[in-house]
This record gives sequence, structure tokens and C-alpha cells, in this order.
Amino acid sequence: MNAPIELPVAADAERRLPIRRLRVDLSAGFPKLWNGGDAFRTHYLNALSMSFPVGEQFFIDAVRKGVSMLPPEQQAAWAPELRGFVGQEATHRFLHGQFNAELDRQGLRNYWQGWAAWRIKRGANMHPVNHVAVTAAYEHFTAVMATGLLTHPHWLESAAPELALLWRWHAVEESEHKTVAFDLYRAMGGSERRRRLWFVYISVQFLIESSLQTFINLWCAGQWWKPRTWWQGARYLFGPRGVWAASLLPLLQYLRRDFHPNDLDNADEMTQWLQTQREAYSIVAG
Ligand SMILES: [Fe+2]
Ligand SMILES: [Fe+2]
Repeated sequence: MNAPIELPVAADAERRLPIRRLRVDLSAGFPKLWNGGDAFRTHYLNALSMSFPVGEQFFIDAVRKGVSMLPPEQQAAWAPELRGFVGQEATHRFLHGQFNAELDRQGLRNYWQGWAAWRIKRGANMHPVNHVAVTAAYEHFTAVMATGLLTHPHWLESAAPELALLWRWHAVEESEHKTVAFDLYRAMGGSERRRRLWFVYISVQFLIESSLQTFINLWCAGQWWKPRTWWQGARYLFGPRGVWAASLLPLLQYLRRDFHPNDLDNADEMTQWLQTQREAYSIVAG
């Protein structure tokens, strides 16, 4: 562990994260190939969604515990950011829970949540700084993916409007709170070596589990054997405007000693979404 880093204390208003209620109703269900009729794009994002409710609860618990271990005066300074982080992630859990319930009804099977729950149970006795390091690593993944979703509109081209709204809202809020776990890790005195090792571990795990769950989804949906599905996957993942081209370098930046999540800049796209979609949400706190 390093000596805890005292971060400059931002003004209270700057540390607030708005908690929004999104005006979407998923109770009526949605089409099986909701992402523009593209089987791969649909089932890749379905796979990610399947990991969210368990993962986001882990992030909430890790950050809460981490803040509780700081000296009392720092805890007070962290309170607004903690409240906002918990509120945003809890709202994501709720809506992706509804989304995942519809996937269940459509005949998909969520294995990822079981893998994640098993791992969380096994790691429960580790020092909390590890839980915050894992959270910071995943939050970097989500922030990079969020930037990709906001800057590459074709990733959600012709998607069902309610679902495009859900994914972009989630992307905006992930971008808003991308520094929380990272700064907390530093405030707890977590070492650079540990931060980077956890990131490498999480990267391998994420790659394996996202691939497996996507394949399971395509299998359950009867889409895995179609050449068209794999062509869609190759284009979406490895095409010049695909996921890897957009994500690889930003992901690797996490390994830099002087990295900070604010180095990823998508403020313009966030502001644009927040303004153009103003009717789609209300701010309930923060
Ligand atoms: Fe989230
Ligand atoms: Fe998050």
C-alpha cells in the first residue's frame, strides 16, 4: 500500500452526481433482435447487461466500504459523491434488471451473473482496497465502452428507441462517475502495482466471460450457426469503426503510471445527449 493520496477537495457542488429517473417503460417487452435486427450487436449488449445487476451491486458495496475506511473528515467530503455514485448505479441495476427479465422471457439464460456472484463470494474476505481496485478497473471498462457508445452512433443504429435511450443514458452516467472508484482507491493508499495487476486480471476475465455469454445468447437464440451472425460480429468487434478499434488504446492507457480517468474526454457527447434528450429524464436528486 502507498501513503494515501490527499486529493484536492472539490467544492461540494462539483462532487455531486445527478440521479435521474429515465422515462422508459420496458414492461411491454421489446423485439428479440432489438439492436437494428443485428444478432451479434444485440446479443453482445445483452451479455453485458446480464452482468450489470450483480456487478453494480458489488461496485456499490465496494465504494461504500472504501469510503467508510477513510478518516472521518474525508468521509464527510466524500459523502455527496458517494450518494450520487450509489444512486446512479442503483438506478442502472433496477432498469437493467427489467431489461434482463425480458431476456429471460425471450428464452436467454444468464450464466454471467452466477460466475460473478461466485467470484464475489470467494473474494469477500480480501482487504477492501482490492474490491475498490476491481471496481476501478471495471469502471474503466465501462467508461471506455460508454465513450464508444456515445461517439459511434452506428453501434446502436436502428435500435428500438427505448433501448437506445437506456444504453446511452447508462453511458452518460458511467462517464459522469468514472473517477469515483479510481480516486477512492488512491485516497485509500492503494499501490500502482496492485491497481495495474487487477486491471490485467479483470481484462482477461472480461474478455472470456463476455465472449462466452455472447455465444450462449446466440446459441439460445438459434443464431450462432448463421454465417451472417459471425460477419456481423467481425465487423462490430474488429471493423475499422468497431469496438476494438475504439477501445484498445483507451483501455491500455489504464496501465500508465500517470493515468487518470479524466484523460478520457467525451464531455461534448455527454453534454449533447443531456441537452437533446432533456425530455427523456428527470433529475430526482443531486
Ligand atoms: Fe452502471
Ligand atoms: Fe459505474
